[in-house]
Amino acid sequence: MPLNIVIGAQWGDEGKGRITDLLAAQADIVARYSGGDNAGHTVTIGSEVFKLHLIPSGIIHPAVTCLIGNGVVVNPRVMLQEMDALAARGVNVTPACLKLSENAHLITPAHIALDKAVEQERGGDAIGTTLRGIGPAYTDKVSRVGLRAGLLADPEALAEAIYAHVAMHNKTLRQIYGAEPLDATAVAAEYAAYAQRLAPYLVDGSVWLDEALRNGRTVLAEGAQGTLLDIDHGTYPFVTSSSPTAGGALTGLGVGPREVGQVLGVAKVFTSRVGSGPFPTELTGEMAMRLRGTGANPWDEYGTTTGRPRRVGWLDLLILRHARRVNGLTHLALTKLDILSGLPELPVCVAYEVNGRRLEQFPTDLRLLARCRPIFHTLPGWSEEITHVRRFADLPANAQGYVTFIAAQLGIPVSIISVGPARAQTIWVGEE
Ligand code: GDP
Ligand code: IMO
Ligand code: MG
Repeated sequence: MPLNIVIGAQWGDEGKGRITDLLAAQADIVARYSGGDNAGHTVTIGSEVFKLHLIPSGIIHPAVTCLIGNGVVVNPRVMLQEMDALAARGVNVTPACLKLSENAHLITPAHIALDKAVEQERGGDAIGTTLRGIGPAYTDKVSRVGLRAGLLADPEALAEAIYAHVAMHNKTLRQIYGAEPLDATAVAAEYAAYAQRLAPYLVDGSVWLDEALRNGRTVLAEGAQGTLLDIDHGTYPFVTSSSPTAGGALTGLGVGPREVGQVLGVAKVFTSRVGSGPFPTELTGEMAMRLRGTGANPWDEYGTTTGRPRRVGWLDLLILRHARRVNGLTHLALTKLDILSGLPELPVCVAYEVNGRRLEQFPTDLRLLARCRPIFHTLPGWSEEITHVRRFADLPANAQGYVTFIAAQLGIPVSIISVGPARAQTIWVGEE
């Protein structure tokens, strides 16, 4: 099947960027379908570390063409900065290898100002957003007042739309939040300059992809965020404003379900979360420090976009069951297995206990979730360093047992295991 989808199975930061980079070697096209520069995807190639926010993680492969799909919200300033930073590092970023869907929506300084104002207003109930203007941009899209990227090809229409957009949001900023209004002329001038540079990248994403698929090209859809940050299937309201799940890949690219082959869920072998909201297997104290790391290593658990320390906890199989179901996952990629080396025991959450009842499916009601206590099945750990292992059979028996337990619990195969951030630190299960 020509379209494979990579999805975050937890709360984001599962290692989607590094898995996408691996699979991109066998793809013609890599396409982002949701979110915006709230994402931070790390790709490690030798001593070089790339942190990508908007540009698909396939960009580093010279033979791959990348698409930013209609489901994405694009801050043109960030997109250009990222393109320039990549070009400065020798990565080819031209309209031949990067396309921007005309129906993607633009993020503006008004969206960013609103994101900040709304979060401040929520005080102790803040979502803990990335303050990139994501929620307000999707709100405008759904309210049918958004600015589509296609405007970048029409300077007059763009200027007119920006004036109306800033005037509308200035009212809210001033009258509701008492915030500083924006200067529409300055924003219009800024966006006119972005338009000049970005217009050559515009395509009708759905038509372009369809043609590629008809010509036998293979497409990898790169998810951003994760299943539990999905606006419908996540821990609402502590979610993002888009659909990072598999359905979102179809609407966010303009393709139909018949094109889909593999749906690969990427899961860390423990759990992490950035921002607020319940987290049943969350750890504090020394064990949390052990899983998070101190920040000395590039892979330690500090946000790629915001630098915030990530909350961490044991692996939660209810989350993965939920991800398997809502995405129709066909395979799993497990990342960061190396981090568990040296831990004598590995508790895995197999069910929750709430009000004397045992739950095996992740509850979508947040009030219920907040009262859930994890029920653990504890597996034996291993002491060996495994960052050099390349074959499943060469993993310590207890590491094999940990992986096999997860696959058996979910009823889907684990096809990839990573034991370090580098490309080579990968075990292709079943291909030995
Ligand atoms: P994404 O948002 O899902 O792409 O994930 P992030 O890039 O935000 O976070 C994943 C972090 O883990 C990055 O720093 C990766 O380089 C790192 N990483 C990915 N896989 C592994 C692995 O198997 N072992 C280790 N130690 N680090 C990994
Ligand atoms: P990647 O693609 C982890 C979280 C934010 C916040 C919530 C809403 O790197 O996995 P938003 O700015 O989207 O309105 O914030 O969602 N969040 C992420 N957490 N990884 C991400 O992306 C995230 N993108 C958004 O921390 O809790
Ligand atoms: Mg990330």
